[in-house]
Amino acid sequence: MSTQKLSTLVVHAGQYPDLQTGAVNVPLYLSSTFELTGIGTDKGWDYSRAGNPTRDRLEEALAALEGGTSGHAFASGMAAIYALVATLKAGDHLICSHNVYGGTTRLFNQIIQHYGIEIQYVDTGNLAAVEAAIKPNTRLIHIETPTNPLMVLTDISAICKIAHARGVEVSVDNTFMSPVLQSPIALGADIVMHSTTKFLNGHSDGLGGALIGTTPEHKERFWLVQKAAGGILSPFECYLVLRGIKTLAVRMKAHEENGRAVAEFLATQSKVKRLAYPGLESHPQHELAVRQQKGFGSMLSFDLGTREAAGRFLGAIKLFLCAESLGGVESLASHSATTTHFALTEDERQSVGITQGLVRLSCGIEDKDDLVADLEQALAAV
Ligand SMILES: Cc1ncc(COP(=O)(O)O)c(C=O)c1O
Repeated sequence: MSTQKLSTLVVHAGQYPDLQTGAVNVPLYLSSTFELTGIGTDKGWDYSRAGNPTRDRLEEALAALEGGTSGHAFASGMAAIYALVATLKAGDHLICSHNVYGGTTRLFNQIIQHYGIEIQYVDTGNLAAVEAAIKPNTRLIHIETPTNPLMVLTDISAICKIAHARGVEVSVDNTFMSPVLQSPIALGADIVMHSTTKFLNGHSDGLGGALIGTTPEHKERFWLVQKAAGGILSPFECYLVLRGIKTLAVRMKAHEENGRAVAEFLATQSKVKRLAYPGLESHPQHELAVRQQKGFGSMLSFDLGTREAAGRFLGAIKLFLCAESLGGVESLASHSATTTHFALTEDERQSVGITQGLVRLSCGIEDKDDLVADLEQALAAV
């Protein structure tokens, strides 16, 4: 593993000059196929579904940033989660945090479950519940921390200790923190997953996903899914993510500064209830956030009480855009019940606390005073 600091790795890991031309930027290889040197021999690549030189560089960068041994880029975050569970077999048991991105639940409930894989949602904040849920056929515990959109944390190292003692692997969706603010592998995780659509790309101009493994078996397994199922990231999108990664460390600093300023402002507003930002001392898991994360990021959510109030707020924001997604340089606000968690039933949403009044913010890198002023005028309309 590299001893270089993250701010250096984001600029240089996988992003060294082209060996043939010296080009400082990783070249974009828009070739679906590669000339073979003979029957069964090649120069390292044969067909872009199996491997592409631009994708190789992104995968190298991702592995280095997360401290893993192999990186694998997929067409979206969901394609990466699909690849994570694609090699589970009928009869296997999968434990998932009960409070995760709605698309993950949709994939597990509406597709993966039909393959005969047993899926159990557990409050992974409750270590005794996780311990009790593990069975002889449990293969994987998948956690998302902090969760989208409620910012609930799971203690990664505690879960890994419990899981490893029973021979179970742990995967962590690290999308909200990015490798800059959280290192799940250093905390014991076996696999890290990202929606690169978010902070890693950072510019809201391309979907993508990634898995980072820690063993030769992971490398073989995830590469097999890339090659066999084909949900790989295109070279152009790999190029965009590589370009985005170069500024990840500086962007995360700016995101974090704005997230904190916005959270501190919202904490003073009487119309704002259930404000969830782990950087605030009032967050019930603030201590865990301090221990496990290297910062608190720029994602937060709060409740305005009713769907009408949330609608008025989202209709009044001007600088924040009312849009799905997160992690881009521009600030976004969204209504979780009708966007990220629309796939859940109203009962399922209620059971995890995704109410109709809930609003999620992704603070961008604009000036924090402008962001606060925009929120202040939008709250006045509520
Ligand atoms: C935490 C988290 N994981 C996974 C995903 C899925 O990623 P994608 O939209 O790139 O498929 C999202 C999307 O919002 C997400 O927020």
